[in-house]
Amino acid sequence: MSLIEVGKTNQVPPGVMKLFQVEGKKILVVNVEGKIYAINGVCTHLGGDLSKGQLEGKIITCPKHGARFDVTTGESVSGPKMAFLQFKTKNETIYGVKIEGESIKIDMP
Ligand code: FES
Repeated sequence: MSLIEVGKTNQVPPGVMKLFQVEGKKILVVNVEGKIYAINGVCTHLGGDLSKGQLEGKIITCPKHGARFDVTTGESVSGPKMAFLQFKTKNETIYGVKIEGESIKIDMP
């Protein structure tokens, strides 16, 4: 495991999410009510770009088929909808976050 600095806290104010490339991975850093979380930025369903999704509180909705994930736990709270059918998808990977001063550091396994 290693802590990698991805950005500064002023880049991700409350209610905002920002995508960072970390070691070839797309990591979405999200500020939920002042606390920073990091979640894989690629949807577990068919690879939708979660950074282009909708964030409401701690829930992010994939722009492709509407799967919803809890950014604090990675849990898939509802699956994608396609042709009026609702499917299931896997939970997202989340990463540990450490704030040091103004720096956002992600714990990469
Ligand atoms: S790619 Fe995200 S819901 Fe289908």
